[in-house]
Amino acid sequence: MPIEHRQPTILILLFHPNLERSKVNAAMAQSAASLPYTSITDMSALYPKGIQMERDGAREAARLLDADGIVLQFPMQWYSTPVLMKQWQDTVLTRMGYLHQDTEGVGLAGKPIMIAATMGAEEATYRPEGRNRFSVMELLAPLRASANRFAMDWQEPFLVYGADLLDYDGLSEAGREYRRALSSFSARTQRADRIQQRVYLAHAGDEVDTSERGPRSEALDRPPMASGAGHAPSAPSEIQT
Ligand SMILES: Cc1cc2nc3c(=O)[nH]c(=O)nc-3n(C[C@H](O)[C@H](O)[C@H](O)COP(=O)(O)O)c2cc1C
Repeated sequence: MPIEHRQPTILILLFHPNLERSKVNAAMAQSAASLPYTSITDMSALYPKGIQMERDGAREAARLLDADGIVLQFPMQWYSTPVLMKQWQDTVLTRMGYLHQDTEGVGLAGKPIMIAATMGAEEATYRPEGRNRFSVMELLAPLRASANRFAMDWQEPFLVYGADLLDYDGLSEAGREYRRALSSFSARTQRADRIQQRVYLAHAGDEVDTSERGPRSEALDRPPMASGAGHAPSAPSEIQT
């Protein structure tokens, strides 16, 4: 059976408390929206009164399962995520990881995930001798642990420091760098797609060349999701609210 090549769909969930007042996250979103394979959702605009598990859980879970790669974009707040992103974890991830692990949670296995975070403070402050003492990578540990919990394919985060001090050129540069990072990320999702197809073939009993199987192959060995993880048609980029 030939291996199909198609554009991946990268779902960017943007958790900014007020995108209208944002500088760098807005510039990044603008830049990302020009890529043909991204779909960006302004979560605060979509859920101005918060996310509810009963009302919103199924829809948000389905969106994650449909995407080939997931990007969580947010400004750092109090060394953590904005409150809506924590609520998204408490509702959507709880649904997928605890209530429907066998039918939904398992579908995230092997799916690439990238954090895109902006920090008001400079990088030098996020060192043992700096004002913030801990590195951003250390502060992101709960998100990485959550990705690990779902056997997701954690990718190098995209980080912007000194975000509040960026001038016009700095904002443009952040947008360009973000596009570059998303482009590498999308290549990673295409590879994951090929790996997944080979594993599906293996399940169907065909002879399979496993030379491209990555470290996540154990997770990918689980049967594919009934809802068809990772095979959504590619959608044009847009910022959904
Ligand atoms: C309530 C609040 C908490 C914040 N906490 C942090 C923080 O812990 N570390 C940091 O580097 N910046 C912190 N900032 C600064 C934001 O991260 C920064 O303003 C944002 O990344 C800029 O992005 P924007 O232009 O898209 O709003 C905080 C800002 C607010 C409003």
